[in-house]
Amino acid sequence: MEIKEKSLEYAPGLEGVVACRTRICQIDGQAGKLYYAGYPIEDLAQNSTFEEVCFLLWNQRLPRHDELENLEKIFRENRSLPQEVIAFLELAPHTAHPMDALRTIASLLSCFDINLEKSPEANLQRAIFLTARFPTIVATFHRLRQNQKPVLPHPSLGFAANFLYMLFGKEPTPNQAKVMDAALILHADHEMNASTFASLVTASTLSDIYSAVASGIGALKGPLHGGANEAVLKMLMEIADPANVESYVDQALTKKVKIMGFGHRIYKNYDPRARIFKEYARRLSERTKFSRFFKINEKLEEVMQAKKGQHGIFPNVDLYSGIVYHQLGIPADLFTPIFAIARVSGWTAHILEYWQENRLFRPNALYEGPAPRAYVSMGQR
Ligand code: SDX
Repeated sequence: MEIKEKSLEYAPGLEGVVACRTRICQIDGQAGKLYYAGYPIEDLAQNSTFEEVCFLLWNQRLPRHDELENLEKIFRENRSLPQEVIAFLELAPHTAHPMDALRTIASLLSCFDINLEKSPEANLQRAIFLTARFPTIVATFHRLRQNQKPVLPHPSLGFAANFLYMLFGKEPTPNQAKVMDAALILHADHEMNASTFASLVTASTLSDIYSAVASGIGALKGPLHGGANEAVLKMLMEIADPANVESYVDQALTKKVKIMGFGHRIYKNYDPRARIFKEYARRLSERTKFSRFFKINEKLEEVMQAKKGQHGIFPNVDLYSGIVYHQLGIPADLFTPIFAIARVSGWTAHILEYWQENRLFRPNALYEGPAPRAYVSMGQR
Protein backbone atom coordinates (compact mmCIF):
# COMPACT_ATOMS: atom_id res chain seq x y z
CA MET A 1 0.00 0.00 0.00
CA GLU A 2 1.30 3.42 -0.89
CA ILE A 3 1.36 5.86 2.01
CA LYS A 4 1.10 9.44 0.81
CA GLU A 5 2.75 12.11 2.96
CA LYS A 6 0.25 14.81 3.90
CA SER A 7 1.74 18.27 3.91
CA LEU A 8 1.92 19.21 7.57
CA GLU A 9 1.99 22.77 8.78
CA TYR A 10 3.61 23.63 12.09
CA ALA A 11 1.42 25.89 14.27
CA PRO A 12 3.30 26.75 17.52
CA GLY A 13 0.90 26.51 20.45
CA LEU A 14 -1.66 25.14 17.91
CA GLU A 15 -2.55 28.77 17.18
CA GLY A 16 -5.26 28.97 14.52
CA VAL A 17 -5.84 25.20 14.55
CA VAL A 18 -9.48 24.11 14.83
CA ALA A 19 -9.49 21.10 17.17
CA CYS A 20 -13.20 20.25 17.30
CA ARG A 21 -16.74 21.37 16.56
CA THR A 22 -18.87 22.75 19.37
CA ARG A 23 -22.33 24.14 20.12
CA ILE A 24 -21.35 25.29 23.62
CA CYS A 25 -19.35 28.49 23.42
CA GLN A 26 -18.42 31.09 20.82
CA ILE A 27 -15.85 33.90 21.03
CA ASP A 28 -15.49 36.81 18.63
CA GLY A 29 -11.97 37.84 19.56
CA GLN A 30 -11.81 40.91 17.33
CA ALA A 31 -15.09 42.35 18.61
CA GLY A 32 -14.54 41.23 22.22
CA LYS A 33 -17.76 39.20 22.39
CA LEU A 34 -18.51 35.96 24.23
CA TYR A 35 -21.61 33.76 23.99
CA TYR A 36 -22.64 30.57 25.79
CA ALA A 37 -24.84 28.60 23.34
CA GLY A 38 -25.75 31.90 21.69
CA TYR A 39 -26.49 33.92 24.85
CA PRO A 40 -24.25 36.98 25.42
CA ILE A 41 -22.14 36.76 28.57
CA GLU A 42 -23.38 40.19 29.71
CA ASP A 43 -27.01 38.97 29.76
CA LEU A 44 -26.10 35.78 31.58
CA ALA A 45 -23.99 37.53 34.24
CA GLN A 46 -26.79 39.97 34.95
CA ASN A 47 -29.89 37.77 34.72
CA SER A 48 -28.93 34.13 35.12
CA THR A 49 -27.52 31.96 37.91
CA PHE A 50 -24.54 29.59 37.86
CA GLU A 51 -26.93 26.62 38.19
CA GLU A 52 -28.85 27.78 35.12
CA VAL A 53 -25.61 28.32 33.18
CA CYS A 54 -24.50 24.77 34.04
CA PHE A 55 -27.74 23.47 32.53
CA LEU A 56 -27.19 25.69 29.49
CA LEU A 57 -23.65 24.40 28.91
CA TRP A 58 -24.62 20.75 29.36
CA ASN A 59 -27.77 20.99 27.19
CA GLN A 60 -27.13 24.05 24.97
CA ARG A 61 -30.55 25.47 25.90
CA LEU A 62 -31.97 27.28 28.91
CA PRO A 63 -33.91 25.09 31.35
CA ARG A 64 -37.64 25.15 31.97
CA HIS A 65 -38.65 26.04 35.52
CA ASP A 66 -39.01 22.40 36.64
CA GLU A 67 -35.71 21.43 35.00
CA LEU A 68 -33.84 24.19 36.84
CA GLU A 69 -35.45 23.27 40.15
CA ASN A 70 -34.47 19.67 39.58
CA LEU A 71 -30.82 20.53 38.85
CA GLU A 72 -30.65 22.82 41.90
CA LYS A 73 -32.04 19.98 44.02
CA ILE A 74 -29.51 17.46 42.68
CA PHE A 75 -26.70 19.94 43.33
CA ARG A 76 -27.90 20.48 46.93
CA GLU A 77 -28.23 16.74 47.56
CA ASN A 78 -24.76 15.93 46.28
CA ARG A 79 -22.53 18.57 47.85
CA SER A 80 -21.20 16.39 50.66
CA LEU A 81 -17.89 14.56 50.42
CA PRO A 82 -17.34 10.92 51.38
CA GLN A 83 -15.95 10.69 54.94
CA GLU A 84 -12.77 9.08 53.59
CA VAL A 85 -12.16 12.11 51.36
CA ILE A 86 -12.45 14.46 54.34
CA ALA A 87 -10.04 12.21 56.24
CA PHE A 88 -7.63 12.42 53.30
CA LEU A 89 -7.87 16.21 53.28
CA GLU A 90 -7.09 16.19 57.00
CA LEU A 91 -4.00 14.09 56.39
CA ALA A 92 -2.73 15.97 53.33
CA PRO A 93 -0.02 18.56 54.06
CA HIS A 94 -1.89 21.78 54.82
CA THR A 95 0.92 23.76 53.23
CA ALA A 96 -0.10 22.35 49.83
CA HIS A 97 -1.51 24.68 47.22
CA PRO A 98 -5.32 24.31 47.17
CA MET A 99 -5.16 23.56 43.42
CA ASP A 100 -3.03 20.51 44.22
CA ALA A 101 -5.56 19.42 46.84
CA LEU A 102 -8.44 19.94 44.39
CA ARG A 103 -6.72 18.04 41.57
CA THR A 104 -5.93 15.15 43.91
CA ILE A 105 -9.46 14.93 45.30
CA ALA A 106 -11.10 15.17 41.85
CA SER A 107 -8.99 12.15 40.99
CA LEU A 108 -9.68 10.39 44.30
CA LEU A 109 -13.45 10.72 43.80
CA SER A 110 -13.22 8.27 40.89
CA CYS A 111 -12.33 5.54 43.40
CA PHE A 112 -15.73 6.03 45.07
CA ASP A 113 -17.64 5.74 41.80
CA ILE A 114 -18.70 2.11 41.64
CA ASN A 115 -21.08 2.63 38.71
CA LEU A 116 -19.58 0.85 35.72
CA GLU A 117 -21.98 2.46 33.25
CA LYS A 118 -20.36 4.69 30.66
CA SER A 119 -23.53 5.96 28.95
CA PRO A 120 -23.95 9.69 28.20
CA GLU A 121 -26.59 9.84 30.97
CA ALA A 122 -24.23 8.29 33.54
CA ASN A 123 -21.46 10.67 32.51
CA LEU A 124 -23.77 13.70 32.73
CA GLN A 125 -24.64 12.57 36.26
CA ARG A 126 -20.91 12.37 37.07
CA ALA A 127 -20.48 15.90 35.66
CA ILE A 128 -23.26 17.17 37.96
CA PHE A 129 -21.83 15.38 41.01
CA LEU A 130 -18.30 16.68 40.35
CA THR A 131 -19.59 20.24 39.90
CA ALA A 132 -21.65 19.94 43.10
CA ARG A 133 -18.61 18.80 45.10
CA PHE A 134 -15.89 21.18 43.90
CA PRO A 135 -16.89 24.03 46.27
CA THR A 136 -17.00 21.60 49.20
CA ILE A 137 -13.51 20.29 48.41
CA VAL A 138 -12.04 23.80 48.24
CA ALA A 139 -13.85 25.09 51.34
CA THR A 140 -13.10 21.94 53.38
CA PHE A 141 -9.39 22.05 52.56
CA HIS A 142 -9.26 25.75 53.38
CA ARG A 143 -10.98 25.27 56.76
CA LEU A 144 -8.79 22.31 57.69
CA ARG A 145 -5.53 24.08 56.83
CA GLN A 146 -6.56 26.86 59.21
CA ASN A 147 -7.29 24.35 61.97
CA GLN A 148 -11.01 25.07 61.68
CA LYS A 149 -13.79 22.52 61.50
CA PRO A 150 -15.22 22.08 58.00
CA VAL A 151 -18.65 23.63 57.57
CA LEU A 152 -21.25 21.22 56.23
CA PRO A 153 -23.08 22.34 53.07
CA HIS A 154 -26.15 24.48 53.76
CA PRO A 155 -29.35 22.60 52.87
CA SER A 156 -31.10 25.54 51.24
CA LEU A 157 -28.53 28.05 49.97
CA GLY A 158 -27.82 28.38 46.26
CA PHE A 159 -24.53 27.24 44.70
CA ALA A 160 -22.51 30.46 45.08
CA ALA A 161 -23.93 31.48 48.47
CA ASN A 162 -23.29 28.00 49.85
CA PHE A 163 -19.64 28.15 48.77
CA LEU A 164 -19.10 31.39 50.69
CA TYR A 165 -21.01 29.93 53.64
CA MET A 166 -18.78 26.83 53.74
CA LEU A 167 -15.67 29.01 53.42
CA PHE A 168 -16.45 31.52 56.17
CA GLY A 169 -18.98 29.71 58.36
CA LYS A 170 -21.61 32.42 57.99
CA GLU A 171 -24.21 33.23 55.37
CA PRO A 172 -23.09 35.83 52.83
CA THR A 173 -25.10 38.98 52.16
CA PRO A 174 -27.28 38.85 49.01
CA ASN A 175 -24.80 41.20 47.33
CA GLN A 176 -21.79 38.99 48.15
CA ALA A 177 -23.70 35.93 46.91
CA LYS A 178 -24.64 37.72 43.66
CA VAL A 179 -21.03 38.78 43.02
CA MET A 180 -19.78 35.22 43.55
CA ASP A 181 -22.57 33.84 41.36
CA ALA A 182 -21.67 36.25 38.54
CA ALA A 183 -17.96 35.35 38.93
CA LEU A 184 -18.79 31.66 38.49
CA ILE A 185 -20.91 32.44 35.40
CA LEU A 186 -18.08 34.49 33.88
CA HIS A 187 -15.59 31.64 34.37
CA ALA A 188 -17.85 28.73 33.44
CA ASP A 189 -16.63 28.22 29.89
CA HIS A 190 -14.34 29.64 27.26
CA GLU A 191 -14.27 27.51 24.13
CA MET A 192 -10.97 25.66 23.43
CA ASN A 193 -8.79 27.15 26.19
CA ALA A 194 -5.74 25.16 27.34
CA SER A 195 -7.42 23.35 30.26
CA THR A 196 -10.49 22.38 28.23
CA PHE A 197 -8.22 21.11 25.48
CA ALA A 198 -6.16 19.17 28.06
CA SER A 199 -9.31 17.51 29.39
CA LEU A 200 -10.43 16.68 25.84
CA VAL A 201 -7.06 15.13 25.00
CA THR A 202 -7.48 12.78 27.97
CA ALA A 203 -11.16 12.16 27.17
CA SER A 204 -10.32 11.36 23.54
CA THR A 205 -8.48 8.20 24.61
CA LEU A 206 -11.85 7.06 26.07
CA SER A 207 -10.41 7.41 29.55
CA ASP A 208 -12.92 8.46 32.24
CA ILE A 209 -14.39 11.86 33.11
CA TYR A 210 -12.46 12.08 36.42
CA SER A 211 -9.12 11.67 34.64
CA ALA A 212 -10.16 14.23 32.03
CA VAL A 213 -11.22 16.74 34.70
CA ALA A 214 -7.98 16.15 36.66
CA SER A 215 -6.06 16.94 33.45
CA GLY A 216 -8.05 20.17 33.17
CA ILE A 217 -7.26 21.20 36.74
CA GLY A 218 -3.55 20.55 36.18
CA ALA A 219 -3.53 22.70 33.05
CA LEU A 220 -5.57 25.50 34.64
CA LYS A 221 -3.09 25.92 37.48
CA GLY A 222 -0.34 27.54 35.39
CA PRO A 223 0.13 31.33 35.52
CA LEU A 224 -0.28 31.69 31.75
CA HIS A 225 -3.83 30.35 32.22
CA GLY A 226 -6.02 30.22 35.37
CA GLY A 227 -3.12 30.81 37.73
CA ALA A 228 -2.93 34.38 36.44
CA ASN A 229 -5.62 35.63 38.85
CA GLU A 230 -3.45 34.78 41.86
CA ALA A 231 -0.39 36.18 40.07
CA VAL A 232 -2.23 39.47 39.42
CA LEU A 233 -2.77 40.03 43.14
CA LYS A 234 0.91 39.29 43.83
CA MET A 235 1.82 41.80 41.11
CA LEU A 236 -0.48 44.46 42.63
CA MET A 237 1.14 43.94 46.03
CA GLU A 238 4.58 44.27 44.46
CA ILE A 239 3.64 47.47 42.60
CA ALA A 240 2.08 48.76 45.83
CA ASP A 241 1.24 52.25 44.54
CA PRO A 242 -0.19 53.70 41.30
CA ALA A 243 2.90 55.93 41.09
CA ASN A 244 5.08 52.81 40.59
CA VAL A 245 3.11 51.40 37.67
CA GLU A 246 5.01 53.03 34.81
CA SER A 247 8.43 51.92 36.01
CA TYR A 248 7.14 48.43 36.87
CA VAL A 249 5.76 47.97 33.34
CA ASP A 250 8.90 49.40 31.70
CA GLN A 251 11.16 47.07 33.65
CA ALA A 252 8.95 44.05 32.99
CA LEU A 253 8.69 44.70 29.25
CA THR A 254 12.45 45.27 28.99
CA LYS A 255 13.06 41.93 30.70
CA LYS A 256 10.31 40.34 28.53
CA VAL A 257 8.32 39.47 31.64
CA LYS A 258 4.56 39.22 30.97
CA ILE A 259 2.21 41.61 32.74
CA MET A 260 -0.34 39.36 34.43
CA GLY A 261 -4.00 39.89 33.54
CA PHE A 262 -3.17 41.24 30.08
CA GLY A 263 -3.13 39.57 26.65
CA HIS A 264 -5.04 36.69 25.19
CA ARG A 265 -4.60 34.20 22.38
CA ILE A 266 -8.10 34.90 21.01
CA TYR A 267 -9.11 38.39 22.19
CA LYS A 268 -7.36 41.20 20.37
CA ASN A 269 -9.74 43.56 22.14
CA TYR A 270 -11.00 44.06 25.70
CA ASP A 271 -12.14 40.72 27.19
CA PRO A 272 -15.89 41.25 27.84
CA ARG A 273 -15.59 39.37 31.14
CA ALA A 274 -12.94 41.84 32.31
CA ARG A 275 -15.40 44.71 31.78
CA ILE A 276 -17.97 43.04 34.04
CA PHE A 277 -15.39 42.13 36.68
CA LYS A 278 -14.06 45.68 36.56
CA GLU A 279 -17.49 47.07 37.38
CA TYR A 280 -17.88 44.68 40.34
CA ALA A 281 -14.36 45.53 41.50
CA ARG A 282 -15.14 49.24 41.27
CA ARG A 283 -18.35 48.93 43.31
CA LEU A 284 -16.70 46.78 45.98
CA SER A 285 -13.56 48.91 46.12
CA GLU A 286 -15.40 52.20 46.54
CA ARG A 287 -16.37 51.23 50.04
CA THR A 288 -13.06 49.97 51.41
CA LYS A 289 -9.43 50.86 51.88
CA PHE A 290 -8.40 48.38 49.18
CA SER A 291 -9.36 50.82 46.41
CA ARG A 292 -5.56 51.22 46.07
CA PHE A 293 -5.48 47.95 44.09
CA PHE A 294 -8.25 49.22 41.86
CA LYS A 295 -6.34 52.43 41.21
CA ILE A 296 -3.17 50.47 40.38
CA ASN A 297 -5.15 48.38 37.91
CA GLU A 298 -6.63 51.43 36.22
CA LYS A 299 -3.15 52.91 35.88
CA LEU A 300 -1.86 49.59 34.54
CA GLU A 301 -4.60 49.67 31.90
CA GLU A 302 -3.62 53.20 30.88
CA VAL A 303 0.11 52.40 30.66
CA MET A 304 -0.42 49.06 28.87
CA GLN A 305 -2.86 50.67 26.42
CA ALA A 306 -0.17 53.18 25.45
CA LYS A 307 2.63 50.64 25.23
CA LYS A 308 0.91 47.46 24.00
CA GLY A 309 -2.61 48.40 22.86
CA GLN A 310 -1.56 48.59 19.20
CA HIS A 311 -0.33 44.98 19.52
CA GLY A 312 -3.81 43.83 20.61
CA ILE A 313 -2.85 43.33 24.25
CA PHE A 314 -5.78 44.25 26.49
CA PRO A 315 -7.05 43.29 29.96
CA ASN A 316 -8.25 39.69 30.24
CA VAL A 317 -10.67 38.02 32.68
CA ASP A 318 -8.02 37.74 35.38
CA LEU A 319 -7.11 41.43 35.72
CA TYR A 320 -10.00 42.40 37.99
CA SER A 321 -11.29 39.05 39.30
CA GLY A 322 -8.61 38.92 42.00
CA ILE A 323 -9.62 42.33 43.35
CA VAL A 324 -13.23 41.14 43.53
CA TYR A 325 -12.30 37.98 45.47
CA HIS A 326 -9.93 39.95 47.67
CA GLN A 327 -12.78 42.30 48.52
CA LEU A 328 -14.91 39.31 49.48
CA GLY A 329 -12.18 38.33 51.96
CA ILE A 330 -10.95 35.31 49.99
CA PRO A 331 -7.22 34.48 50.19
CA ALA A 332 -5.22 34.71 46.96
CA ASP A 333 -4.38 31.01 46.66
CA LEU A 334 -8.11 30.21 46.41
CA PHE A 335 -8.59 32.39 43.31
CA THR A 336 -7.58 29.69 40.82
CA PRO A 337 -9.57 26.98 42.65
CA ILE A 338 -12.62 29.27 42.28
CA PHE A 339 -11.89 29.40 38.55
CA ALA A 340 -11.90 25.58 38.61
CA ILE A 341 -15.16 25.44 40.62
CA ALA A 342 -16.78 27.30 37.71
CA ARG A 343 -14.85 25.76 34.82
CA VAL A 344 -15.59 22.13 35.72
CA SER A 345 -19.02 22.81 34.20
CA GLY A 346 -17.40 23.85 30.92
CA TRP A 347 -14.83 21.04 30.92
CA THR A 348 -17.51 18.41 31.42
CA ALA A 349 -19.84 20.00 28.85
CA HIS A 350 -17.06 19.81 26.24
CA ILE A 351 -16.07 16.27 27.27
CA LEU A 352 -19.68 15.04 26.92
CA GLU A 353 -20.02 16.81 23.56
CA TYR A 354 -16.69 15.52 22.26
CA TRP A 355 -17.56 11.92 23.13
CA GLN A 356 -20.56 12.19 20.77
CA GLU A 357 -18.15 12.07 17.84
CA ASN A 358 -14.93 11.09 19.55
CA ARG A 359 -11.64 10.95 17.70
CA LEU A 360 -8.29 10.36 19.39
CA PHE A 361 -6.16 13.51 19.58
CA ARG A 362 -2.82 12.63 18.09
CA PRO A 363 -1.01 15.52 16.36
CA ASN A 364 2.42 15.31 14.79
CA ALA A 365 5.77 16.73 15.77
CA LEU A 366 8.24 18.32 13.38
CA TYR A 367 11.42 16.32 13.87
CA GLU A 368 14.56 18.46 13.99
CA GLY A 369 17.02 15.98 15.48
CA PRO A 370 19.88 14.02 13.88
CA ALA A 371 19.32 11.88 10.77
CA PRO A 372 19.04 8.09 11.34
CA ARG A 373 22.38 6.71 12.56
CA ALA A 374 23.95 3.57 13.97
CA TYR A 375 23.96 2.89 17.71
CA VAL A 376 27.30 3.75 19.33
CA SER A 377 28.45 1.37 22.05
CA MET A 378 29.38 2.79 25.47
CA GLY A 379 33.13 2.40 24.98
CA GLN A 380 33.06 4.27 21.65
CA ARG A 381 31.30 7.45 22.80
C1 SDX B 1 -6.92 32.78 30.74
O1 SDX B 1 -7.52 30.76 26.33
C2 SDX B 1 -8.44 31.09 27.11
O2 SDX B 1 -9.56 31.21 26.73
C3 SDX B 1 -8.01 31.32 28.54
C4 SDX B 1 -9.00 32.03 29.47
C5 SDX B 1 -10.18 31.14 29.81
O3 SDX B 1 -11.22 31.65 30.20
O4 SDX B 1 -10.03 29.92 29.74
O5 SDX B 1 -9.46 33.25 28.89
C6 SDX B 1 -8.34 32.36 30.84
O6 SDX B 1 -6.05 31.95 30.77
C7 SDX B 1 -6.61 34.26 30.57
C8 SDX B 1 -5.13 34.55 30.35
C9 SDX B 1 -4.42 34.66 31.69
N1 SDX B 1 -2.99 34.81 31.56
C10 SDX B 1 -2.32 35.94 31.81
O7 SDX B 1 -2.90 36.98 32.16
C11 SDX B 1 -0.81 35.85 31.71
C12 SDX B 1 -0.28 37.03 30.92
N2 SDX B 1 -0.66 36.90 29.54
C13 SDX B 1 0.13 36.22 28.67
O8 SDX B 1 1.27 35.55 29.01
C14 SDX B 1 -0.36 35.97 27.26
O9 SDX B 1 -1.03 37.09 26.79
C15 SDX B 1 -1.19 34.70 27.03
C16 SDX B 1 -0.44 33.48 27.52
C17 SDX B 1 -2.52 34.80 27.77
C18 SDX B 1 -1.48 34.51 25.53
O10 SDX B 1 -0.34 34.58 24.88
P1 SDX B 1 -0.01 34.01 23.42
O11 SDX B 1 -1.17 34.02 22.53
O12 SDX B 1 0.72 32.70 23.56
O13 SDX B 1 0.99 35.12 22.94
P2 SDX B 1 2.53 35.25 23.26
O14 SDX B 1 2.85 34.92 24.65
O15 SDX B 1 3.24 34.46 22.20
O16 SDX B 1 2.73 36.79 23.04
C19 SDX B 1 2.68 37.41 21.76
C20 SDX B 1 3.29 38.79 21.90
C21 SDX B 1 4.68 38.71 22.48
O17 SDX B 1 5.40 39.83 22.00
P3 SDX B 1 6.46 39.65 20.81
O18 SDX B 1 7.49 38.64 21.32
O19 SDX B 1 5.69 39.12 19.63
O20 SDX B 1 7.03 41.02 20.63
O21 SDX B 1 2.55 39.58 22.82
C22 SDX B 1 3.36 39.89 23.97
C23 SDX B 1 4.47 38.86 23.97
O22 SDX B 1 5.60 39.29 24.64
N3 SDX B 1 2.50 39.72 25.16
C24 SDX B 1 2.65 40.38 26.30
C25 SDX B 1 1.65 39.91 27.16
N4 SDX B 1 0.91 39.00 26.50
C26 SDX B 1 1.44 38.90 25.29
N5 SDX B 1 3.55 41.27 26.69
C27 SDX B 1 3.44 41.73 27.97
N6 SDX B 1 2.48 41.32 28.83
C28 SDX B 1 1.58 40.43 28.45
N7 SDX B 1 0.64 40.01 29.31
